[in-house]
Amino acid sequence: MPKPYNPRDRFYRKAKDQGLRARSAFKLDEIQRRFHVLKPGARVLDLGAAPGGWCQIAAREVGSKGFVLGVDLEAIPSLPGVTTWVADAFSPELLARLRSEGRAPYDAVLSDLAPKTSGIHGVDEARSLDLAGRALDLSLQVLKPSGFFVVKVFMGGDFAGFLKACKQAFVEVRVVRPEASVARGSKEVYLVCRETRKLRAASDGSTLRTSGA
Ligand SMILES: C[S@@+](CC[C@H](N)C(=O)[O-])C[C@H]1O[C@@H](n2cnc3c(N)ncnc32)[C@H](O)[C@@H]1O
Repeated sequence: MPKPYNPRDRFYRKAKDQGLRARSAFKLDEIQRRFHVLKPGARVLDLGAAPGGWCQIAAREVGSKGFVLGVDLEAIPSLPGVTTWVADAFSPELLARLRSEGRAPYDAVLSDLAPKTSGIHGVDEARSLDLAGRALDLSLQVLKPSGFFVVKVFMGGDFAGFLKACKQAFVEVRVVRPEASVARGSKEVYLVCRETRKLRAASDGSTLRTSGA
């Protein structure tokens, strides 16, 4: 039986105690401890970054010589060591802006993107998978070849297809279920992908897009 979701669980309280903006920060914190995706001095793009929990972890890890850019549809109140943009992660203008002002290419692209929930399970899963697929496409256009891509996705729908697309695009792909996701009773997992395979012939990467709403 999955545990009922308690929004004020130990990760919520721990986040409050440590001045972190979201309990989800502990998911990236665990991924970082296990896979070292964020190096000192690295450039990081965080997609779906509001309210800023992942940005806080990223800024801590890359330090003052690094660069963290958080992008979200919602405003992210300012954070030390973090640049924030209010933007649609998939607007046609964003790619050019990332290259001109956003310091692309990146050492790591992170995606904790989540759609507004409809309450209809299958629809929400498909939307989440669609966001993950789009984030994958974008990551392949802005990552350094040696870079990391970390993406949230739900086990359901065409998860297997998305995993396959990530394996085609990256040399190494690990499926991770952080403790903070388990505690929430969520079906979400994170794929931690390392080093692009350079298979992309099409500049838009659309062949990798998974189906979804
Ligand atoms: C789970 S929250 C991210 C939490 C964040 N990682 C943190 O630690 O604070 C998911 C975010 O994805 C954002 N989002 C969804 N679709 C988006 C899009 N197309 N472009 C940018 N942000 C988007 C939502 O606005 C929401 O803030």
